[in-house]
Amino acid sequence: LKPENSTITIFGASGDLTHRKLIPALYHLFEANKLADDFAILGVSRTEFSDEEYREKLRQLLVKHEKTQPELVDEFFKHVYYQAVDTANAPDYEKIKTRLEELEYLHSTHGNVLYYLSTPPSLYGVIPECLAAHGLTKEGHGWKRLVVEKPFGYDLESAILLDAQIHNFFEEQQIYRIDHYLGKETVQNLLVLRFSNGLFEPLWNRNYIEYVEITGAEALGVEERGGYYDGSGAMRDMFQNHILQVLAMVAMESPAVINADSLRNEVAKVLQSLHPLNPETIEENLVLGQYTSSKVRGIEQAGYRQEKGVNPESRTETYMALRLQIDNWRWSGVPFYVRTGKRLPTRVTEIVIHFKRTPHPVFSQNAPENKLIIRVQPDEGIVMSFGLKQPGAGFKAQEVAMDFHYEDLGETTLLSGYERLLLDALNGDASLFTRSDAVQACWKFVQPILDYKAGLDAKLHGYACGTWGPKAADELMEKEGRAWRFPC
Ligand code: BG6
Repeated sequence: LKPENSTITIFGASGDLTHRKLIPALYHLFEANKLADDFAILGVSRTEFSDEEYREKLRQLLVKHEKTQPELVDEFFKHVYYQAVDTANAPDYEKIKTRLEELEYLHSTHGNVLYYLSTPPSLYGVIPECLAAHGLTKEGHGWKRLVVEKPFGYDLESAILLDAQIHNFFEEQQIYRIDHYLGKETVQNLLVLRFSNGLFEPLWNRNYIEYVEITGAEALGVEERGGYYDGSGAMRDMFQNHILQVLAMVAMESPAVINADSLRNEVAKVLQSLHPLNPETIEENLVLGQYTSSKVRGIEQAGYRQEKGVNPESRTETYMALRLQIDNWRWSGVPFYVRTGKRLPTRVTEIVIHFKRTPHPVFSQNAPENKLIIRVQPDEGIVMSFGLKQPGAGFKAQEVAMDFHYEDLGETTLLSGYERLLLDALNGDASLFTRSDAVQACWKFVQPILDYKAGLDAKLHGYACGTWGPKAADELMEKEGRAWRFPC
């Protein structure tokens, strides 16, 4: 399905996300002939550029970092324009209005506009208001949609406030809160794996599952984003959004049909069922860590507090591990162990479903429990481990695995998260975008942890770069006779 012609208006057009993710994603969609027959991309930000200067700047970055075809690059940039605007200043939006009218004429967009907010979050409330003041949010003459980047709020209170501000000018069905993890093919595959296989779904509950692990590990540190990250930490940067969305896909009930309402109803329900943490239970279930300077493969790595833009006395966590539970019939009593962090040994996101052992050990040496490992990235795939008889005398069981790698599907190239989500937003399909109630459920669950970590008594453990986080995170599992899987 090809989207209708439209103008994609990107606020924050000279920012990192636009250069690194949005423009490459739009270019790849263009190359794959998935964009509309005609369209315009209007970059908006404060810096003064002419259309030509902006195109040139983007072109250089695109060809430097992506595989491109020169003729198509030229063709693609004929659709790109730029408008300098002080985004916080309402009268300046007259310029956007004029530009949109011009582009509607040039590219037959019929008044369809996708606004993409990729600015500092402090502008998320302001931009819709200014657009509305110039009649730029009204539907009727074409559709108007608003894509909002994370973070959607800073805590529960600010998320509720932001929601109210945006809802003054856009209806919920016009709002697309983006979480790029939901755009990942392997995250969506969780639904297909669970709900199209008679094999897994009957076992997918507290009767057969002992516990679930979710790991979102990154080898990189905070790089150039120290200033932003120091006010955020792993909890707000990764857990509140990406990790909880992945968890929802693992734990939700089956939607009756796949459409935005029914899918998002189930996501919201499971997030609303997270067992609330309180000041008495937080410490025994949570481990916070921060990377310290150390040598990785002989090379000295800076500690978090030495990173550019970071307070040298910062107490921001770059690692967190949490044991959580879901209060519903399916998951009652099943612990979910979740961890995410920067400067860990490798970049890997995976989910491990640990099935219960057989009720009675018959063989002298039983195989370890059955595990289903869902590799979200990299090396996307699924591994199922089970016990088999060791050849030879006696009955010894050993662990073996069945392995599926997405790359074995051959030529199929996976769309990146941003490609898939941009396309969905252009097609008006909100299924993979987070709904207001789900965002608030996430913040509601996270809020007691934010309160805890803001306190002076919050425990923060150091861990050396290139290790799997603080020892205390291992103890979180060990005290229940379990251990994290260490993916390589
Ligand atoms: C972003 C976070 O949302 O997700 C980053 O702000 C993090 O800190 C990134 O590195 C991880 O995304 P991915 O797709 O590389 O796993």
